[in-house]
Amino acid sequence: MTHLSKRDRDAFDIFKQELLRQRGQIELIASENFTSLAVMEAAGSVLTNKYAEGYPAKRYYGGCEVVDKAENLAIARVTKMFGCKYANVQPHSGAQANMAVYFSLLKPGDTILGMSLAAGGHLTHGASPTFSGRWLKAIGYGVSEKTGLIDYDQVRSLAQQHKPKLIVAGASSYPRTIDFKRFREISDEVGAYLLADVAHYAGLVVTGLYPNPFPHAHVVTTTTHKTLRGPRGAVILTDSEDLIGKINSAVFPGIQGGPFMHIILAKAVAFGEALSGEFKQYMTNVLENSKLMAKRLMDNGIGIVSGGTDSHMAVVDLRELGVTGKQAEIALEQCGIACNKNGVPFDPLPPSVTSGLRLGTAAGTTRGFRVKEFDEIAQIISKVLKALAAGNADSVYAEVRSRVSKLCEAFPLYPELSC
Ligand SMILES: Cc1ncc(COP(=O)(O)O)c(C=O)c1O
Repeated sequence: MTHLSKRDRDAFDIFKQELLRQRGQIELIASENFTSLAVMEAAGSVLTNKYAEGYPAKRYYGGCEVVDKAENLAIARVTKMFGCKYANVQPHSGAQANMAVYFSLLKPGDTILGMSLAAGGHLTHGASPTFSGRWLKAIGYGVSEKTGLIDYDQVRSLAQQHKPKLIVAGASSYPRTIDFKRFREISDEVGAYLLADVAHYAGLVVTGLYPNPFPHAHVVTTTTHKTLRGPRGAVILTDSEDLIGKINSAVFPGIQGGPFMHIILAKAVAFGEALSGEFKQYMTNVLENSKLMAKRLMDNGIGIVSGGTDSHMAVVDLRELGVTGKQAEIALEQCGIACNKNGVPFDPLPPSVTSGLRLGTAAGTTRGFRVKEFDEIAQIISKVLKALAAGNADSVYAEVRSRVSKLCEAFPLYPELSC
């Protein structure tokens, strides 16, 4: 960062503050991770300078012969990871990947059936403030109140009633296994496309620790920055030659202009890492840590939606403690733990307050935390939540902050970076 520090002290100072924040906090936001320095180098490389509208060997600009190699490398690696035939690696984000899929397969006013935001779905699966809820007729399915699991009977009956053109399987805060085969059976019954959005589970999918949506889904989208541990962005995958043609046209020129070639190179780097044995061990640890953390919280009397997890995240149900998600998020942040408030199924409180917290282990595991450390993190969280419920959170902050600092110091983040 010598150039930044010399050229622009204000910007350098922001970089420095953020590096220190990441180093000094325990990161439990389930959608975040810490990329390798190799991914960051690619993302910060000269490929940022290149315009390359179009696709490899079919560009609207000259001088694309090198960036074509970056895009082809990313495509080859990501299709190998998922065991599918075709990929578009250009979407700038998960929301844009989903938008491109809708743009390629649907017309305004068509019906989609996705998991409702309240049950754990993503905004782009049909929530009213987004393009998906505004331009399409969106129907939401949910989970069983008793088990917290997807209610497949409800999915089937909603599909038969509303005859959606597309069904979305996937979620942002559903910690359990999704039965993609069952979703495909329901989709086939009503003649709908099946889109699997595995943004959260992707790292687990490609290491065989979570079901692969292929060969069931017609189209799969995923972000590249969550469990996949790559740069910000997304990809769209399919086994269908017909669909990839439509999807490519929908991404460019449909909804995006020039692809971010530096990010595509960084995606290729992350995919190379994801194909390694080391990544499989990492994801195995992520899952073990997440199961352990959820169990320890439950041992301490803290409610966990669906009674556990099959993925990198768990959703805490704070209703019995009489604490809101907003209060818990603020209290934990004061102790050096970053996480986010999250609705629980059938949440009586609005999304700005909520009755839950979503906790993820992908970032902490990258940092080196194992079950011993996640046990300690679960004890810390339990202590803070119970103190909050008893109205004396202030009395535990000093002790808890020092326990958080000890964990962070024992597992230094990006020690190679200086500031
Ligand atoms: C399931 C799912 N799909 C899509 C997205 C959107 O990704 P992005 O924030 O990159 O637009 C998210 C983000 O959290 C997500 O959880």
